[in-house]
Amino acid sequence: MYSAADFIPTSYTSTIENGNFEWSAPSNIALVKYWGKKDNQIPANPSISFTLNNCKTITKLAFSKKDTSASTNGFSFDLLFEGKPKEDFKPKIQKFLERVEAYLPFLKDYHFTIDTQNTFPHSSGIASSASGMAALAMNFMSLEKKLNPEMTEDYFYQKASFLARLGSGSACRSVKGNVVVWGNQANIEGSTDLFGVEFPYTIHENFKNYQDTILLVDKGEKQVSSTVGHDLMHNHPYAERRFAQAHENLDKLIAIFENGNIDEFIKVIESEALTLHAMMMTSMPYFILMKPNTLQIINAIWKFRNETQIPVCFTLDAGANVHVLYPENVAAKVRQFIQDELVVFCQNSQYICDEIGNGAIAL
Ligand code: DP6
Repeated sequence: MYSAADFIPTSYTSTIENGNFEWSAPSNIALVKYWGKKDNQIPANPSISFTLNNCKTITKLAFSKKDTSASTNGFSFDLLFEGKPKEDFKPKIQKFLERVEAYLPFLKDYHFTIDTQNTFPHSSGIASSASGMAALAMNFMSLEKKLNPEMTEDYFYQKASFLARLGSGSACRSVKGNVVVWGNQANIEGSTDLFGVEFPYTIHENFKNYQDTILLVDKGEKQVSSTVGHDLMHNHPYAERRFAQAHENLDKLIAIFENGNIDEFIKVIESEALTLHAMMMTSMPYFILMKPNTLQIINAIWKFRNETQIPVCFTLDAGANVHVLYPENVAAKVRQFIQDELVVFCQNSQYICDEIGNGAIAL
């Protein structure tokens, strides 16, 4: 397994003047949540997620070598969103380049055009930072591989996830599929704070092709950025207990993935979602990201599950949208339930059907 120092290249064996790459990277939905971090994007606790399949960012990176005289003058890039210049995305990219420069020493030698688009509606309240940073990291790794053709596949993917993490923590879980762990966990071999790794143990048939229907409850801008939210876990009265709980829940999931017990899965997943929001409600300053319709949906899911015994559950991100999770074999019934009873709580009746996927793809 690689350490951060292994990701600092000493020299490259090849050169390249210009070219372009294109990658898609999916979003992911955390089961055990990442909420709280230390310096350098090191998570306060380990997290685990399902990689999604349909919600993704597609990013094209065009690069051309600058004149040598200009090559020391900082980063040079244009940022296009859906083909049009997007100035307000640039500071985020600039910050990302600064954070990864030590690991990609060629960055100032090139001018880049980064052309990016999402498969899900912009301002749907679905965070594009995970898929976006992952897609960008994949492209930079493709360029580094041109400079160092001997690079192994393991190095390529681990470093891509490492770079994505420096852009946005959860992005490191969007490089690979289907179930990804990020953060040190004693009982998970190979797990590390530095990058996401595929969950290395048995996953029961019950969890294959697990479905995630994302109900768009509130598409407004986030009231609280996740950076601010993570910060509020410093000096939070319940932080230490929460971080310990994340480890406990991850251990529970190891057993659940092996034995296929969906009832136990539901308990862990829903508790994680509510705990995430409980942390927000008990920080100083405190805030509530759920909306009335978020609660309507949660209650409707609980009622439906009670009455039908169909194992459908929910999870939440740092927002009002609800991810409805269910096994593939009950998909038709759950979709009908969503249509009949949940769509009324969605903004403009909007929802997105997704499922577990395989990670980033070179296009
Ligand atoms: C609630 O990855 O967006 O979605 O590292 O500051 O970019 P930064 O945070 P980010 O936080 C995601 C938090 C979460 C839970 C999760 O995905 O684990």
